[in-house]
Amino acid sequence: MNMAVKIGRLKLKNPVMAASGTWGTDYLELSDAGKLGAVVLKTVTLESRTGNRSPRVCETASGMLNSIGLENKGIDDLIENKLPRLNGIRTCIIASIAGDDKREFKELAVRLSACKRVDAIEINLSCPNIKYGVNEGLIAHNEKAVYTTVKAVREATKLTLITKLSPNVTDIKVFACAAEAAGTDAIALTNTFIGMAVDINTGRPMLGNITGGLSGPAIKPMSLRAVWEATKAVDIPIIGIGGIMDYKDAIEFMLCGASAIQVGTANFVNPNSTVEIVEGIEAYLKRKNIGGIGKLIGAIKLG
Ligand SMILES: Cc1cc2nc3c(=O)[nH]c(=O)nc-3n(C[C@H](O)[C@H](O)[C@H](O)COP(=O)(O)O)c2cc1C
Repeated sequence: MNMAVKIGRLKLKNPVMAASGTWGTDYLELSDAGKLGAVVLKTVTLESRTGNRSPRVCETASGMLNSIGLENKGIDDLIENKLPRLNGIRTCIIASIAGDDKREFKELAVRLSACKRVDAIEINLSCPNIKYGVNEGLIAHNEKAVYTTVKAVREATKLTLITKLSPNVTDIKVFACAAEAAGTDAIALTNTFIGMAVDINTGRPMLGNITGGLSGPAIKPMSLRAVWEATKAVDIPIIGIGGIMDYKDAIEFMLCGASAIQVGTANFVNPNSTVEIVEGIEAYLKRKNIGGIGKLIGAIKLG
């Protein structure tokens, strides 16, 4: 069965990736990453960041809220300590980057492009917990900032570029078009939806940051809608993310036009879920007599 998909110049053996922030090198002992299309690493910044106040995670109906706030040890640690651990893993490695301004994004892209183990770069414009130094807040919420940031990264690297957008906007098509015009090779949709929860015993917010990002099954219909709208607005591949817990969820995204998918929260429930999704999609294609993964993409029947 041909499960290969292309994202920009990047050829993936199958369309299933682990999503940024939900997969770490400790997963190598729990699941065979070599069976995945790619893994997206936790978003890295130039300097280390401690992240937001705790508690930073809480469970809600059909999903989880997190306000990690881009805690990471910085680019030097990624290059010196984490990337070498991925040598010999037969899957594509996508580095995820975030910065406070376009200069930082550019520097991250230049440094990562020099790393043999990095196959592509995902630009995270959409973490809802960090202010990027744009007047109105997040880059992903400002069309012009999306354009100039993506353009700056585009000029800094020849690697395949994926732009991860925020769903917390009125019209996702506007932002998808801005990223495409700036030269991104693909768009990843969606990051988490902003939410909050309150502990009625203490009267306090469940998260130290008060608000956080909602992920998991609760967001799937909304992410699916965002993917559906974006695929009609741009001519580049869309990577679907949001509440994908099993192969059936993945297939829904692909029928709506996603060329590939990423799995986040499901990794915390079952560390092998990504591999099981690859196997599930393959079995579905065989069962349905569908000749290859390409025939599934955008094959939703309307009317
Ligand atoms: C604990 C946690 C940490 C995350 N960290 C990042 C991150 O560093 N960078 C990023 O782009 N997305 C991050 N995300 C968002 C996920 O990659 C994904 O877009 C989101 O969770 C929706 O997918 P899901 O419903 O399958 O989890 C994080 C999500 C969770 C739950």
